[in-house]
Amino acid sequence: MNEHDKCYINLTRYPIHTDGPERDAILARVRDDLDRDGCAVLKGFLTDEGVKALTQEADGVADMGHKSFSRTNAYFSKDDPNLPVDDPRRQFFARSNAFIAADNFAKAGALRSVHDFEGFDAFIQACLQEENFFRYADPLADVIVNMAGEGNGFPWHFDTNNFTVTLAIQNAEAGGAFEYAPGIREGSENFDEVKRVLDGTSDKVTVLELEPGDLQLFRGRYSLHRVAPLKGSRPRYVAIFSYVAEPDMVGSPERTEQLYGKTLPIHWERSGRRADAYLD
Ligand SMILES: [Fe+2]
Repeated sequence: MNEHDKCYINLTRYPIHTDGPERDAILARVRDDLDRDGCAVLKGFLTDEGVKALTQEADGVADMGHKSFSRTNAYFSKDDPNLPVDDPRRQFFARSNAFIAADNFAKAGALRSVHDFEGFDAFIQACLQEENFFRYADPLADVIVNMAGEGNGFPWHFDTNNFTVTLAIQNAEAGGAFEYAPGIREGSENFDEVKRVLDGTSDKVTVLELEPGDLQLFRGRYSLHRVAPLKGSRPRYVAIFSYVAEPDMVGSPERTEQLYGKTLPIHWERSGRRADAYLD
């Protein structure tokens, strides 16, 4: 993209493409937030026009979303009947949403114009200070949109990956706050406090209201988190940008089928090697 193309990133507020004190100040703030509680938000990362364009694009491919349902505990582990019945590892919640695969987003479209903006990847890498940092090479999953409505959602869980990079596009009519307990299992599993979060009696939960256009960086391996139940008929859209620690990685055929309802030849060709990166 050159400077005459439409840019949907608010570069006045976030000059991510230009080295200098403004970019340095943003990086310092983001790193500080990530260090402190594993979460950093760049409010209004998109322009209003950008929010409109990405929403329209998501609306246009919403029918392509692949729905998936599961019942999971916070650890994505199997039930263990040897544990007490009120152990947090035995609390299972319904998880359901839809993923719109990356191949629905055209090169010239709004979402990819953000992802492919010069300096975007380097800026995210600099925020996260990850040494080994590559765009996911999976043509179905490098950038996707998660879609969820009333009755769907992401119940409490810990992530299996080190970080997530998400961009809020559209909120449901109500609900949908991002709730997290920063560092709750840093150092130990801390099952007692985890149990209180699941019961709704913990005072360790931070509630974050994300608005369309907000970019969020989150380290969820040690911080229990969820999206509060959604209300209303309008779907919630969130774009997820995926980066991994090795070049040329794609998802396993099984995981890809589960998330997107299809696979491509590349998933099978590569399935002989370790090539999995979980979205959450
Ligand atoms: Fe997560």
